[in-house]
Amino acid sequence: MKKSENDPNLMEKIVSLAKRRGFIFPSSEIYGGFSSSYDYGPLGVELKNNIKKIWWREVVQKYDEIYGLDSAILMHPDIWKASGHLESFTDPLVDCKSCKKRFRADHLLEAESIKPDLEHKKKPAKNIKDSKCPECGGELTEARSFNLMFKTYIGPVEDESGGAYLRPETAQGIFVNFKNILNTSRAKLPFGIAQIGKAFRNEVTPGNFIFRMREFEQMELEYFVDPKEADKWYKFWLDERFKFYIDSLGVAKKNLRIREHRKDELAHYAKACSDIEYNFPFASWSELEGVANRQDYDLKSHQKYSKEELNYTDEKGKKFIPHVIEPSAGVDRSLLTVLVDAFSEVETRSGDKDAKHQKEIVLRFHKEVAPVKIAVLPLSKKENLSKLSKQIFNSLKIKWNSIFDETGSIGKRYRRQDEIGTPYCVTVDFDSLEDKKVTVRDRDTMKQDRIFISELEQYFKDKF
Ligand code: GAP
Repeated sequence: MKKSENDPNLMEKIVSLAKRRGFIFPSSEIYGGFSSSYDYGPLGVELKNNIKKIWWREVVQKYDEIYGLDSAILMHPDIWKASGHLESFTDPLVDCKSCKKRFRADHLLEAESIKPDLEHKKKPAKNIKDSKCPECGGELTEARSFNLMFKTYIGPVEDESGGAYLRPETAQGIFVNFKNILNTSRAKLPFGIAQIGKAFRNEVTPGNFIFRMREFEQMELEYFVDPKEADKWYKFWLDERFKFYIDSLGVAKKNLRIREHRKDELAHYAKACSDIEYNFPFASWSELEGVANRQDYDLKSHQKYSKEELNYTDEKGKKFIPHVIEPSAGVDRSLLTVLVDAFSEVETRSGDKDAKHQKEIVLRFHKEVAPVKIAVLPLSKKENLSKLSKQIFNSLKIKWNSIFDETGSIGKRYRRQDEIGTPYCVTVDFDSLEDKKVTVRDRDTMKQDRIFISELEQYFKDKF
């Protein structure tokens, strides 16, 4: 078995597989595409739903004190004043005076190893004027700040009075519901509010497939704590979130690391922040999730702007604004991570004659992550075999997302399932009509078990 870590064409292969097998399509393709937008196809949406379902279980359902939320995308515009997004959610941009191309100043400096990538967290760097255009060597303009929020208008008239923004993070929807959750649940510190939802950023340099898009999904938790315990909970969530990718999504530990932000890299509201990074083939180590100690910045600021009291009262009657620990993950980046991490190429193994002398793709997804769990494959299309196979398929598919495939050689069908990461194939052969048994092939071990049809359900219950 060969892992494809050092393959320079790895991303190309993944993008092509994702499209060919219905995981991810370029958006608006029949109109020539739409820059850096993607649509999730039948397998992509299953994969995405599985990731969200696992996150929800591990972050919300596992804890008594964590509450779910689904807040609106369009919110009161003053929220973005209070959160600091209107003022400082900016990227520094420069233009080339000769070729007129536009670049992110921090990316140019990073490429020259002058400063690291500060990703939306710093004002324009001052020394960019000394750099040259990476395309034509021309002189660059001064860096200008460009706000990343998408502006829209509510109502029929496009004037400032109806101005609103598409949320650039789900977090602020949580902070503005702090009081609602506190009042309705009578929560005691520490407690958390979590949500999964779309976020929008007018990224200047989107790209690397679904790594950086203008429309994406986040999975965020705001965990409110006594300020004295903030350091302890920051460490707790950083550990938990790191383990999540390994234990719950099946990502290889060697491809993950934690990178703590330097003091000069921290956002203005953060006391501490660490990124959980994945070793992506296109960009080496890059952020998959951020875990931050945001202190009391957000609640304090919303209290000031909304004039609503956002205190917490402890058992002794003492009022204070809790501090908050925020693990903030991307759904799309998690999906890209599991796709890249699961991808492997092997010498021919399926028995597909057409695949001889070619490598075969196997997506070694964690079983819970895999979009399809079981494929039912009758050895022949003969009526009695087809009928029995359909019966088996119908009983399995209501419990586990399953596929029925009777076209092509059995080798070709195994290959199709390996390519989309299906953990188990059930083959129904002519003996099955007599002995009432089927063969179950394991994607990873290639081991084949002969199982009574009547025991299949229990067999898979033990596997998943
Ligand atoms: N509330 C904090 C926050 O939004 P962030 O680091 O800007 O922090 C959190 O975003 C996560 O959202 C990132 O770690 C990444 O997984 C995802 N994310 C951010 N921008 C993205 C983009 N343009 N495309 C895809 N995912 C993105």
